[in-house]
Amino acid sequence: MRLFKFIAINLFFYALLKAPGLLAGKPIPSSVITMYMFFIVVTVLLVMTITDEGANELFAPLRSLLEDPSRSLARNILFVLLPIGAALSVYYSAAEPAPPFELRSAHPAPPGAVRAYGKAYELDGLENPLRPLEREDPAAFKEMVREGGEVYFRNCLFCHGAKLDGRGHYAHAMDPLPMPFTGSDTIAQLKESYLFWRIVRGGPGLPREGGPNISAMPAWEDELTEEEVWKVILFIYDYTGNRPRSWKD
Ligand code: HEC
Repeated sequence: MRLFKFIAINLFFYALLKAPGLLAGKPIPSSVITMYMFFIVVTVLLVMTITDEGANELFAPLRSLLEDPSRSLARNILFVLLPIGAALSVYYSAAEPAPPFELRSAHPAPPGAVRAYGKAYELDGLENPLRPLEREDPAAFKEMVREGGEVYFRNCLFCHGAKLDGRGHYAHAMDPLPMPFTGSDTIAQLKESYLFWRIVRGGPGLPREGGPNISAMPAWEDELTEEEVWKVILFIYDYTGNRPRSWKD
């Protein structure tokens, strides 16, 4: 029968496309298989219906199923099963609810310049003015780190945590969460100038990618002096054992 031939040929090609996945463990992506099968079915259909007799013969079983009065039982069963099948396929394809996609950028690109303390700071090339002490005067550097620690524990600990892991007392009430400074994928990836921008400008200074929720990070320009900001940055890196990225790498 021609209809069986049609189905058999298509099944053969389907098996051929599935074979690499089943036999060699290297499956062809299902979207590619769907696309190929579309062209194969259409081509086989074209070839098999190229003459009128061929077409009649191919569709005869379908026509008799739909028109022949003696086959009304089979027809009724088909007309019940078809919509149920369609409903099930829609149900299963839509049944996996995915959480909404989070578009927030945790580290949005900084602006070119930051206005603070009555000056404009070009962020490009901006260095921590206290950083050279680390090499030139280790004792003075240690003192700066200690003072930076005082700034931290007086102002930042409630949100960023006593261990600098972003788990301060207030952290749970926030969305976005306070950033941890521990771990090698946090401030170790940032330059000190980036932290300077984030600390003096805070959540209100974030560009749109920092949304949609408003960050609770305060802008510290009015509370801390410029030197205190650079000191607390020294402390955050020192305490967590991270190195800031420099302009050279
Ligand atoms: C009221 C809670 C709160 C306080 C207090 C607070 N922060 Fe934040 N901070 C946040 C939140 C929330 C974020 C994450 C959202 C964002 O990036 O703005 C954040 C982000 C940051 C970032 C960006 C880190 C990154 O990886 O991009 C830095 C740097 C920072 N805070 C430093 C400080 C310093 C230094 C202090 C103290 C002087 C401080 N924060 C005090 C809530 C706070």
